Amino acid sequence: MSVEELRVSKIRDGTVIDHISGGYALDVVKILGITGKERCVVTIAINVFSRRFGVKDIVKIEGRFLSVDEVSRIALVAPCASINVVRDYVVVEKLEVKTPRVIFGVVRCVNSVCITNSDEPVGSKFSVDSVDPLVLKCHYCGYVLEKRDVLSQM
Ligand code: CTP
Ligand code: ZN
Repeated sequence: MSVEELRVSKIRDGTVIDHISGGYALDVVKILGITGKERCVVTIAINVFSRRFGVKDIVKIEGRFLSVDEVSRIALVAPCASINVVRDYVVVEKLEVKTPRVIFGVVRCVNSVCITNSDEPVGSKFSVDSVDPLVLKCHYCGYVLEKRDVLSQM
């Protein structure tokens, strides 16, 4: 077992979000709505050594499993993350997140006069022009959103 593995202990049941880009763990925690006031145990490691990425962040949440919607939000800020479902100390499911090329819903257009912000029943739609750094372009008005715009909505 390496020093890196010793730094944070294994969990029994829950979710390990691994390979988050260094420095983005707190954004992932925010996306999941974790305030620290919940009863679950959350372990956060920031800027730890990673053979694959140089540095990475890790978030371990005990007793919680993520929805499809939560995974798609995480994909926006941590495009290389892997989501590990742990049951009885064993990783029973591993999901490499993938940022889609088109995003429906999830993110709002920042342009206040965009049709998606009007009374018309038009949902948001963005093309993903770049994954890292994140660049989204509104399908309807062409407005460009960056990672910080997305994060400020979550
Ligand atoms: N993990 C954990 N508790 C467990 C099992 C695994 O916290 N009971 C964590 C590991 O520390 C690691 C992640 O879940 O951060 C994935 O575990 P595993 O698949 O065993 O590790 P690797 O093979 O290194 O994963 P990868 O191939 O995704 O790098
Ligand atoms: Zn728009």
